[in-house]
Amino acid sequence: MIVAIDGPAASGKSTAAIGVAKALNITHLDTGAMYRAITFGLIKNQINFKDVKAIKAYLSNLELKFSIKEKNTALILDNTDITEKIRSSKINQNVSEVSAIKIVREFMVKIQREMAKDTDCILEGRDIGTVVFPNADYKFFMTANDRSRAERRLADLVSVGDKKVSELDAVLDELRVRDLKDSTRLHSPLQRADDAIIIDTTHLAIDEVVNKIVNIVNHKRTLI
Ligand code: CDP
Repeated sequence: MIVAIDGPAASGKSTAAIGVAKALNITHLDTGAMYRAITFGLIKNQINFKDVKAIKAYLSNLELKFSIKEKNTALILDNTDITEKIRSSKINQNVSEVSAIKIVREFMVKIQREMAKDTDCILEGRDIGTVVFPNADYKFFMTANDRSRAERRLADLVSVGDKKVSELDAVLDELRVRDLKDSTRLHSPLQRADDAIIIDTTHLAIDEVVNKIVNIVNHKRTLI
């Protein structure tokens, strides 16, 4: 079983996907975290985003894996835990440029399909229902109004000391710029699959979003 969740930045995909994975006892794959990891690696190794050859060489050697740590999923890049580092403003500001690179996307789609091959999985991202798993059993497209998304993201960034509570406008701008880049890029832009169910999370609590998805999945399952 493949459940696909796509949607713009900070629309609540991760929180919902974690809850749904727990409720249905399936594997959760955060594909955004993977693009963030590559962005982190390229910056750390001072690789120019336009240097396709160097990026190719970097990708062919890297080791990226998720590991379960005290019930939470940690992202390990070349033996270093980068789970928290990939949420910084620096990564937010650069990830859309990196995720627009064709060879990066090809590399990612391949490992995402491999990771989900023999296991029931919920994947969240931008192109899951359109490109990675166009035949997914269940597809959702999550949205929320700009202000709620910015408020949620600001709270995350404040909690890790990356932003001050007064910086809502800056966070809002950052989200809008990223969404624009993600939805207008050439390769696999952020797009709702025609058959994806839209969930607007603006006025919904996490439990309500999770229950909505779980109910839809369970209802459809009983019909099969
Ligand atoms: O958590 P948030 O919604 O802010 O973003 P994310 O899901 O962590 O994704 C970070 C970035 O990775 C996005 O802005 C996209 O540029 C890229 N991404 C992508 O291109 N394709 C995916 N399947 C997932 C993420």
